[in-house]
Amino acid sequence: MTATLPDVLEVRGGRPLRGRVRVPGDKSISHRALIFAALAEGESTLRNMASGADVRATERVLCRLGVAIQRGPDAIVVSGAGVDALREATDVLDCENSGTSIRVLAGVLAGRPFLSVLSGDESLRSRPMARVVEPLRAMGATIDGRNDATRAPLVIRGAPLQGIRHTLAVASAQVKSCVLLAGLQADGETEVVSPAPSRDHTERMLRALGVPVSVDGLTVRIERGAPRPFDLDVPGDPSSAAFFAVAAAITPGSEIVVESVSCNPTRVGFVTVMKRMGADITLRPTHEVCGEPVGELRVRASELSGTTIAGDEIPNVQDEIPALAVAAAFAHGVTDIRDAAELAVKESDRIGTLHEELGRLGVGVEPRADGLVVRGGHPAPGTFGSHGDHRIAMAMAVAANAIAGDSSVQGWPAVSSSYPEFARDLDRLTGPDGDR
Ligand code: S3P
Repeated sequence: MTATLPDVLEVRGGRPLRGRVRVPGDKSISHRALIFAALAEGESTLRNMASGADVRATERVLCRLGVAIQRGPDAIVVSGAGVDALREATDVLDCENSGTSIRVLAGVLAGRPFLSVLSGDESLRSRPMARVVEPLRAMGATIDGRNDATRAPLVIRGAPLQGIRHTLAVASAQVKSCVLLAGLQADGETEVVSPAPSRDHTERMLRALGVPVSVDGLTVRIERGAPRPFDLDVPGDPSSAAFFAVAAAITPGSEIVVESVSCNPTRVGFVTVMKRMGADITLRPTHEVCGEPVGELRVRASELSGTTIAGDEIPNVQDEIPALAVAAAFAHGVTDIRDAAELAVKESDRIGTLHEELGRLGVGVEPRADGLVVRGGHPAPGTFGSHGDHRIAMAMAVAANAIAGDSSVQGWPAVSSSYPEFARDLDRLTGPDGDR
């Protein structure tokens, strides 16, 4: 996939976006769909799966654990044989750049009676892992790893697990899902308490697939169980849609519709933030699949003004901050992003990388320990970089597209983590007639 992408994306700016687009399937739902299908006994058919490398990493790890997965032209068929059918892999399980793969799969492997070594690329090996190691050890797994088991590679010797009551230090859906999947194999009840709401795909999907999961405010409880096999048409990824939403909002003359996108309330906080900034944006849920609401997003260009993004809103816009920071760069006034220290431990240190890249646009930007302050201005074309981070790459392409003149984004292949076809879809929307 990466081989077909140019190292540098050249962007001729000032091109309005017009027409309709369907973004690839949601990355978080796609990871979970593969894992739940592997844990089910029977055949599951998954369509419109996320096309990026992260979900492929989960798929490859499951194959190495003995799961039969067949990729057809329009669907992936997983022949699950239940959790007991997973087998020890003969080599290191490479999660590449994917935090969701390593953290969620750690929860599955903690309960398996064999040795697993989970690792990934340089960025993943620098990201915090104590947050999953500690609860899994408390449940009975033996786990070692680099740097006192705070960094991957993680060496997991699975064991029979006991349910626990675990309070998360940060509102992380990956950690919550990790503990819930360990809980699915544990004796007794497992309870996970979050400090603030985070994406809830694991809870919604497992419940829709017949697993006893209950949600009471910020507390989720689960008992031993197995999902049933299922067919799923994965809704479009709102985190990908957010880049087009911002692109349309900041590029005069734009008007777009993103079709079949997930409207899960824990994922569409960016719509609320953009409305507050003055964007002409509407999200209309039309139906549900596997417990997940799906609908249509419409956006028209408009003047934006600065806002504050902070507190419990942060976990619900976590992955959209690179896109929202670009919106802030084009807005009148100041945007204050606070309580977002987790930005520093994403695929890049997004506080540092956004500071650097928004600075290249020529707008005022100040980093802080838990976020950024962006003073909107008159962004100028330039040479930008991805820092190996897919969302920084797409954010800078969106900024470049909105500014008259020629710009470039170096390190473009980073987009392959979640959206290898992003430049093609942007070109279609900005082509002579848009994608109508
Ligand atoms: C994800 C959870 C979030 C998000 C990531 C995907 C998931 O990470 O940033 O892109 O699929 O559960 P955290 O759990 O670290 O907040």
